[in-house]
Amino acid sequence: SPLHEFLQRLPKCEHHMHLEGALAPSLLFELAQRNNIALPKDDDAFASPESLIARYKRFTSLDDFLHYYYIGMSVLINTSDFEALAWSYFTHAHRSGVVHAELFFDPQAHTTRGIPYSTVLSGFIAACNRANHELGITTELITCFLRHLPIPDSLALFEDPDVQESYRRGDVRGIGIDSTEVGYQPERFKELYDRAKGMGLRRTAHAGEEGPVGYIANALETLDVERIDHGIQLIDNPELMKKVTAKGTLLTICPLSNVVLKCVAGINDVPIKRFLEGGVRFSINSDDPAYFGGYILENYCKVQEAFGLGLREWEVICRNGIEGSWCEDSRKREMF
Ligand code: ADE
Ligand code: ZN
Repeated sequence: SPLHEFLQRLPKCEHHMHLEGALAPSLLFELAQRNNIALPKDDDAFASPESLIARYKRFTSLDDFLHYYYIGMSVLINTSDFEALAWSYFTHAHRSGVVHAELFFDPQAHTTRGIPYSTVLSGFIAACNRANHELGITTELITCFLRHLPIPDSLALFEDPDVQESYRRGDVRGIGIDSTEVGYQPERFKELYDRAKGMGLRRTAHAGEEGPVGYIANALETLDVERIDHGIQLIDNPELMKKVTAKGTLLTICPLSNVVLKCVAGINDVPIKRFLEGGVRFSINSDDPAYFGGYILENYCKVQEAFGLGLREWEVICRNGIEGSWCEDSRKREMF
């Protein structure tokens, strides 16, 4: 359709995409075989890539998804695996019209399996460099810390010399928190965020995805984050919504993810219109595209189907995406 073409051509910035969430079942099975990794035998979903894809259509919650997400990434062993994974994302992103991508990864999900941080990072950096040279996509990397693990583990990883060096070199631009939400309040990570801020790192946090709006307030107040990942529960608190609007905090919204993980009843319940009307800044993102049935362009298209936005509204969304990015101002000017 002509609108599909229009949406494809918009200069998109992606701010909320977990590299491990770009692991398609086909690559998952290929790497499992190559690396001799046994997939669970007591779960029929792992019989074939097709049965896994079918299972992904029946997620019941964030935690139900995370169970498959962590098993899936267990096939990633070598630098070349991480590079292949990220490169597969970039080819899709390019087709979707992404010009700039700020990508999450979960170091602890690999270091706890005995995979060194340097292995993970060098694979991702190789793919980022290739994406920049061959596709013209600029990139930033963001380390996410896992909420369900003990806080001292996060602090220890943050202080790891290899991790510190990646921040100092600018290979990694910022930090976030992700994984299970309910029961794991953002304020628990205050020490980590204080240290990150002290080093001049950019800061975001998953909040208000499945958890209540109080977690968003908590992240803003105690972690001093510059962005909120998801944040859809903000509609439950008009006061806070006004504050977020005044501050200009960017929400990184993931419509398909919210529908697939049952955070909303349907795409129409993602508060796109209400955020636009209220002046809340947000970008539209894919979260874990290999698990949720679509990359960023599919998210843009679903939003358009549901809300029938006008040209001016899409312009606002893309402008806010560029302005809310963590790249150099000179790069932002190129994207406008
Ligand atoms: N890890 C990967 N995707 C996630 C999501 N949508 N929420 C929390 N943790 C995640
Ligand atoms: Zn996410």
